[in-house]
Amino acid sequence: MQSWDIILIKSRERKEALVKAALNQTFIAEAPFVLVVCANMPRTAKIYGDRGANLYALQDTAAYIQTLLLLLSARGLGACWIGAFRDDLVAEALEIPMNQGIRPVAIIPIGKPAEQPRPPKRIPLNRILYDEIYGKEKRD
Ligand SMILES: Cc1cc2nc3c(=O)[nH]c(=O)nc-3n(C[C@H](O)[C@H](O)[C@H](O)COP(=O)(O)O)c2cc1C
Repeated sequence: MQSWDIILIKSRERKEALVKAALNQTFIAEAPFVLVVCANMPRTAKIYGDRGANLYALQDTAAYIQTLLLLLSARGLGACWIGAFRDDLVAEALEIPMNQGIRPVAIIPIGKPAEQPRPPKRIPLNRILYDEIYGKEKRD
């Protein structure tokens, strides 16, 4: 389906507008490139109706974002999935039409990584993997 639309931002003014939209996450403006990935709900709804609009479009777009992040990392680039932002301010900055089902899902600043961070801590597997039924701890 390719339920997503992507906007490439290089201009300083728009990056600054995205910083404001993203609750003042100033590092966005330091990146040479910023992508904003939106779920295009009507495109998915055309075939799959309400479930397409409200679930598949977001699932599909999230899967795309994850794949994109892996690709960028494999090419030696640094990126960050930013989900904390005001939809209305992102829409205003990028002239995304309101109320037409184009929903910004992630702001992704991209640049040369300044450091190689250690992998973050993970929740132990036995607290998120259950045995046959939800909540039943896996013992072996
Ligand atoms: C859905 C989602 C939303 C996120 N939103 C933000 C955000 O607004 N700002 C931020 O700094 N990190 C955000 N993160 C976290 C970063 O993208 C990244 O995963 C985190 O900094 C850990 O990075 P690391 O795995 O390279 O250590 C978000 C992650 C996800 C999955």
